Amino acid sequence: MSHTTNSNSEIKIAVIGAGNCFSALYQGFTYYKDSTESDNIPGVMFADIGGYRPSDIKVVAVYDVDERKVGKPTGEAIFAKPNCARVFAPDVPAGPIVQMGHVLDGVSSYMQEQPADFGFRVSDAKPVDMVQSLKDSGADLLVNYLPVGSQQASEFYAQAAIDANIAFLNCIPVFIASNPKWEQKFIDAKLPLIGDDMRSQLGASVLSQVLQELAFDRGMVVDFHQQLNIGGNTDFNNMMVQSRLASKKESKENVIRAQNDLRGIAVPEHSLFAGPSTFLPYLKDNKVAYFNIRLRGFGDASVTIDAKLSVQDSENSAGVVIDAIRYLKVAKELGVVGALRGPSAWTQKTPPEQMMYADAKLECEALAKRRLTPSVKRQLTKA
Ligand SMILES: NC(=O)c1ccc[n+]([C@@H]2O[C@H](COP(=O)([O-])OP(=O)(O)OC[C@H]3O[C@@H](n4cnc5c(N)ncnc54)[C@H](O)[C@@H]3O)[C@@H](O)[C@H]2O)c1
Repeated sequence: MSHTTNSNSEIKIAVIGAGNCFSALYQGFTYYKDSTESDNIPGVMFADIGGYRPSDIKVVAVYDVDERKVGKPTGEAIFAKPNCARVFAPDVPAGPIVQMGHVLDGVSSYMQEQPADFGFRVSDAKPVDMVQSLKDSGADLLVNYLPVGSQQASEFYAQAAIDANIAFLNCIPVFIASNPKWEQKFIDAKLPLIGDDMRSQLGASVLSQVLQELAFDRGMVVDFHQQLNIGGNTDFNNMMVQSRLASKKESKENVIRAQNDLRGIAVPEHSLFAGPSTFLPYLKDNKVAYFNIRLRGFGDASVTIDAKLSVQDSENSAGVVIDAIRYLKVAKELGVVGALRGPSAWTQKTPPEQMMYADAKLECEALAKRRLTPSVKRQLTKA
């Protein structure tokens, strides 16, 4: 695809949570800043989405609540503890000063009691007026990178996005885009959103999904599908609290379960496990997933897949967020409102409508070319 420069050439984003995922994304803007000409950017899924390149994205506001980040320039805050994401672009710009967000249920008592390198330390700064601050920033959209289990805080920030008249990208397993009540609020405000709970560029979710699809396409019976995940970043530590972990497990299992549902195949009891399994600080931002998939084929003959996937968790997530931001901007320009079906199914674990891999990809490719697909047309009628 050739690069079609867009006249509105910038996408301004505001971000909640200057943790590891944002560190990788922010470094990515520097890493890819000169990738303006070729049709292919190594490491990036789509070089051009509706005329926008990764280098067209500008961070205009950042909010956090940790005393080691609030009041610091973004370019310093992303390298502050407890972040442990790999440093692959050290010379990032200073960027906006990180502002004090609203704590609500974003920080658990467990995370406040953890050693400083693996936990959160809440700042005593005064929280900003969120809606006014978002309006002043001129942001086109707000990205939610809060810790898992931040139900009230996510709802608070989603409402702030609506009140500031900007789009919303919900990267975490709090159900907003996939909750019809919340989607209706965005439709009423004539705003698009993408969610919920991003799936990585080549991570455990997409691998589980395509293995499940492959099994069904080849006529196999899936007796058991296990995906165990371990890691050493604060995301994994935060999920040591069982009550916060529940939504992540549900979201991860949704990815696999959806492929049964789309084909009308029942999921037998105890035949599925996908979820974070433990926190191992030694691993830092390296996430390791272990798959065990037990299948039956011709004549009931067994086929077993044992696989291990090892990734850098935060870069892997930034690789989809850099696209999701551009889908939202293009949708906004086309007047598409509500939870974007194709891009949500392609970039998130729990979208409002699950799709097969190939269908979600086609929807995204079409939107990238500003072509109206059936799902985009359906969305336009909601405007
Ligand atoms: N590949 C991935 O890493 C991946 C994939 C899917 C989903 N996610 C989700 O993305 C989210 C972010 O992941 P991460 O690794 O960056 O987490 P992180 O723990 O590194 O960062 C979370 C940040 O949020 C801040 N915070 C806490 N409460 C806040 C509040 N009320 N307001 C503003 N800031 C607040 C923390 O201080 C911290 O800086 C998590 O929910 C994670 O599950 C990550």
